[in-house]
Amino acid sequence: MKVYLKNPQATEKFGHLIGQLLQSGDVVCLTGDLGAGKTLLCKGLATARGVDAMAITSPTFTIMNIYDGDTNIRHFDFYRLQSEEELDDIGFDEYCGGTGITIIEWAEQFVERLPSEYLQISIRRDGEGRSAELVAKGQHYSEVIETLKNVYTGN
Ligand SMILES: Nc1ncnc2c1ncn2[C@@H]1O[C@H](COP(=O)(O)OP(=O)(O)OP(=O)(O)O)[C@@H](O)[C@H]1O
Ligand SMILES: [Mg+2]
Repeated sequence: MKVYLKNPQATEKFGHLIGQLLQSGDVVCLTGDLGAGKTLLCKGLATARGVDAMAITSPTFTIMNIYDGDTNIRHFDFYRLQSEEELDDIGFDEYCGGTGITIIEWAEQFVERLPSEYLQISIRRDGEGRSAELVAKGQHYSEVIETLKNVYTGN
């Protein structure tokens, strides 16, 4: 599934829509250059789950943020991670796919550590806005994308 996000509001709104369709245990992997809009999409997603918008920040330096919503949201950023051992240090495997929703920015840094099933979202600059492409890894996420296609109106 490909969508055009004409401005930052569209990115946040699209994230919000995705957030409404996810369930506890789901994993979302975000890929895209610096400043693509990954954190903003995550903000939309987390607020859809009842997280206070002010609580959502970029985990670039903290590596992981945890937010309280209707379910627990774990927001990772692999950008600054140098080695897999650092993932072990923060207990990534215990968190990823556990109760709550896991979102990972710069997930491509450690592809081998990702679960076998997740929703992949790639964002890239496109004219004045952004293009987002969603790919399902696994049947559950194919169903999420099918539902998203039915409810997404593009504005
Ligand atoms: N659809 C869009 N059109 C234009 N600008 C956008 C769009 N979506 C997001 N932006 C802008 O992109 C900028 C970067 O957003 P954000 O911090 O979410 O990026 P990021 O991908 O998380 O970056 P990083 O890799 O540094 O974590 C923000 O200024 C935001 O307003
Ligand atoms: Mg970010």
